[in-house]
Amino acid sequence: MESILDIRGLEKTYSGGVQALRGVDLAIRKGEIFALLGPNGAGKTTLIGAVCGLVRPTGGTMHAFGLDIAKHWKTARRRIGLVPQELSFDMFDTVIRQVRYSRGMFGCPPDEAKVEEILRSLSLWDKRDAQIRQLSGGMKRRVMIAKALSHDPELLFLDEPTAGVDVELRRDMWRQIDALRARGVTIILTTHYIEEAEEMADRVGVINAGEILLVDDKDAMMAQLGRTEAHFELAEAMAEVPTSLSAYPLHLEKDGQSLVYRGGDGTGKGKREIAELAQELTRQGIGFTGLDTRESTLEDIFVDLVHQREEEAA
Ligand SMILES: Nc1ncnc2c1ncn2[C@@H]1O[C@H](COP(=O)(O)OP(=O)(O)O)[C@@H](O)[C@H]1O
Ligand SMILES: [Mg+2]
Repeated sequence: MESILDIRGLEKTYSGGVQALRGVDLAIRKGEIFALLGPNGAGKTTLIGAVCGLVRPTGGTMHAFGLDIAKHWKTARRRIGLVPQELSFDMFDTVIRQVRYSRGMFGCPPDEAKVEEILRSLSLWDKRDAQIRQLSGGMKRRVMIAKALSHDPELLFLDEPTAGVDVELRRDMWRQIDALRARGVTIILTTHYIEEAEEMADRVGVINAGEILLVDDKDAMMAQLGRTEAHFELAEAMAEVPTSLSAYPLHLEKDGQSLVYRGGDGTGKGKREIAELAQELTRQGIGFTGLDTRESTLEDIFVDLVHQREEEAA
């Protein structure tokens, strides 16, 4: 698979001493949607800033489109679009002027047909003469995307595109991003919303404290780490898990009132074991009054990964 972006050993220590990136390796495939998932302060914006020339790395190399970004920064940057985390524009300017202006900033000649196409694709054409300040938050974000697309980038970064956006607008944004991918744009988005990575991404990278913990196909990640959880609410509290049930991954919660299963591997094993376990409990005369089951989410996986790392480090 062809890499459109190849990052090796990327380091960033800010002047105050914060180590925001600690040897990041990342290869992005042409045409994919890659979600970089991590909590606040993980280093997502710093990583994007390094690729887009806003942050000067303190170590490592970056190649985009086969070009060494350090040596061919301008050429590479022209082929990259960035929708930054913070909204930033001249609030009194009009939508269409902002998009034209962005295009000019990248040294592209005026092209009204192109500008129209971008505005139409984001349902902004009717608003083209509106001042930015007159638009809703969701519309403002679309203008940010329109600006980032003004020079026809092949690689687009969206830094927390839906942070603080309500659910409906978020879905709308997801559709827009999907449409961009259909046009052949490679997309890297950062998010701390698990559903966003789950919904949008072909692959997911998990970043924490400046380190990439894992990169995998979204489905493979779910299968590898997917787990099932079941809570049996017991008719009578237990002091400990009976040895007759030691074959199952069980523990007690809520003062022995709840028998909890955590197991499975994403192949459906968890569900089978829970069904078996329910029969086994009945057979052994252990009554339960309720049963809750759920599949783990990327959020659980993320918490697990961070714990694993901490344990390894300890
Ligand atoms: N300009 C800066 N100067 C000093 N420290 C910074 C600067 N920008 C970010 N940091 C620090 O670097 C770390 C990573 O920040 P950031 O890349 O913004 O993370 P994220 O986007 O994942 O929330 C944080 O500890 C943050 O406080
Ligand atoms: Mg950020």
